[in-house]
Amino acid sequence: MKTSRWMEVVNLCLLFCFLGGGLAYGAEMLLRGFGAISTVQAFKEFGVVVSPHWQAYAEDFISFVNGVGRLYLPVIVGVPLVFLIHFVAVGPKGFEHKGRRISFYGLFTRFLHWMCAIFFSLVVVSGIMVLFAKALGGGSLVLSARGVHLFCAYGFMVFAAPLFLIWLKDMFPAPYDIKWLLCGGGYLSKKKVEVPAGKFNLGQKMWFWLAFVGGAVMFYTGYVVSGLSLPQAQIAGYIKIHLILGLFLVALFITHLYMSLFAVKGSLKSMISGYKWEEEVRVLHSRMLK
Ligand code: HEM
Repeated sequence: MKTSRWMEVVNLCLLFCFLGGGLAYGAEMLLRGFGAISTVQAFKEFGVVVSPHWQAYAEDFISFVNGVGRLYLPVIVGVPLVFLIHFVAVGPKGFEHKGRRISFYGLFTRFLHWMCAIFFSLVVVSGIMVLFAKALGGGSLVLSARGVHLFCAYGFMVFAAPLFLIWLKDMFPAPYDIKWLLCGGGYLSKKKVEVPAGKFNLGQKMWFWLAFVGGAVMFYTGYVVSGLSLPQAQIAGYIKIHLILGLFLVALFITHLYMSLFAVKGSLKSMISGYKWEEEVRVLHSRMLK
């Protein structure tokens, strides 16, 4: 493996360590500042903010959350690990950044995308913090995370709705998507062989549907759960949908980050400038030029 690739692997590991370390350090500082209380106590405090019924649900909620929480850990650790292996074994795809530039994302689309990215990232991080409330010591930190989770869920929906409509027409399945799937999207080798895809490939389409429709379901179920105005059995059902769908969303969100930040060089630039270079479009979005 070339030295430069090793450097990129080291950078990737450093990034993960930096983010993880920063989160742990910030959490500890906050806890020291405000003092830690037990998880049960922390969730019971939600009742004061949201609804007095919450106190009755606290124990049930925590036992379910702890159960599903165990499933999140393999996803949060396992999915990046799989991509780290891909990065070392196959490596990123690079394309020539010269020749014709093709317009891909308009200014408004890019603005909406980055707003969704900010709110969604905060929703994911704060959601995971609530899920691991016990490990974080509960208390103000978890209560604040819950506040961020609720606020950012609304923020995400505001920007996601117009972005959904802008992208919708390009996101319906096409017959050649099956061929894309059969060749692993061209990501299993570094060869620049044209893969059958239009403006968006099947992987991108799947992320689109899960992020937007799944995101809306997450918003609705989260809204119902936070209100606690239904009978306990129904609330339990909504919590289950919220946490299990969330598991798939987190897995695909990590996938989206890897694909757009590491797997295809220059991908990030295209979401900043709005343009892609011809060679990348010819290889990864061959049907678009045809
Ligand atoms: C920090 C978080 C995020 C980053 C760094 C990021 C980055 C990117 C980049 C670089 C692209 C361009 C990919 C290309 O065409 O080569 C992209 C596209 C896209 N993003 Fe994001 N994104 C983030 C969050 C999100 C969120 C939260 C959503 C869901 C609402 C989303 C939905 C999409 C979709 C549907 C596309 C077009 C299809 C695709 O490339 O997957 N992104 N993103």
